[in-house]
Amino acid sequence: MKITAIAVANQKGGEGKTTTAINLAYGLARRKHMTLLVDLDPQANTTGIFAHPDQLEKSLYDVFVGRARLSEILLQTPDPMLKVAPARISLAEFEALHNNVDAPFVMRDAIQTLSGFEFIVMDSPPSLALLTINALAAATHVIIPTQPEKFSIDGMKALQATINSIKNRINPNLQILGALITQMKSKTVLTKTILPVISQFFPVFDQTVSDGVAVGESHLARKSIYEYAPDSKQAKEYTDFITEMLRELKK
Ligand SMILES: Nc1ncnc2c1ncn2[C@@H]1O[C@H](COP(=O)(O)OP(=O)(O)O)[C@@H](O)[C@H]1O
Ligand SMILES: [Mg+2]
Repeated sequence: MKITAIAVANQKGGEGKTTTAINLAYGLARRKHMTLLVDLDPQANTTGIFAHPDQLEKSLYDVFVGRARLSEILLQTPDPMLKVAPARISLAEFEALHNNVDAPFVMRDAIQTLSGFEFIVMDSPPSLALLTINALAAATHVIIPTQPEKFSIDGMKALQATINSIKNRINPNLQILGALITQMKSKTVLTKTILPVISQFFPVFDQTVSDGVAVGESHLARKSIYEYAPDSKQAKEYTDFITEMLRELKK
């Protein structure tokens, strides 16, 4: 089976990476695609939805230091179509420990040992360092969540440069699916001032995700937006975003 591996990346924190990774993975699983959600952020926010990171016996750190295979650390979620590769804070040590030539390719190699998954969704940390590089090196596609704000746009150039270097040097097939506008408050500001700038760097998904309290509450309840607030605007928006993404993937 061909695996579609999606890196959710943006070196700025607070842009909606974790929210998007969680709801994208859940949404794909709900559509009966066998999905793996990988938490490449040592902050372990994604992992925290499914487990207590401090109580994990094994995590991605063990994979990164060669102590475990990826298949050995996976957690089964209540949805039979969704598994999680969890992170712990110790994952941060990998960035410091490992600067050998294989270091960018741990995730790519690990994915190749898996079978049975149709989609892999990788949440990544707010940096352009080794763990994000691992996600981008392993990915077939990248999605860039971003808030429609000035400071968010400021980082786009560096992110575009990193993605281009990854494409040129280690992953020529990496495709940019696009930027996903999250936490949107005003459609007018978006179309007038923000969209023209972001689209200089990346294609932008037509579907946007608006700002709403249900999102933060869903994290506190440790649920996806579909389970926590199925009738919320954001649940519908994430559903429509996935439809648009699947359409893009078929092109
Ligand atoms: N659409 C949204 N509406 C309201 N709050 C949101 C939305 N998306 C994300 N948030 C909140 O913004 C913060 C950052 O989101 P998060 O997904 O953790 O970003 P990142 O992983 O890029 O740091 C979190 O507190 C989250 O609950
Ligand atoms: Mg995050």
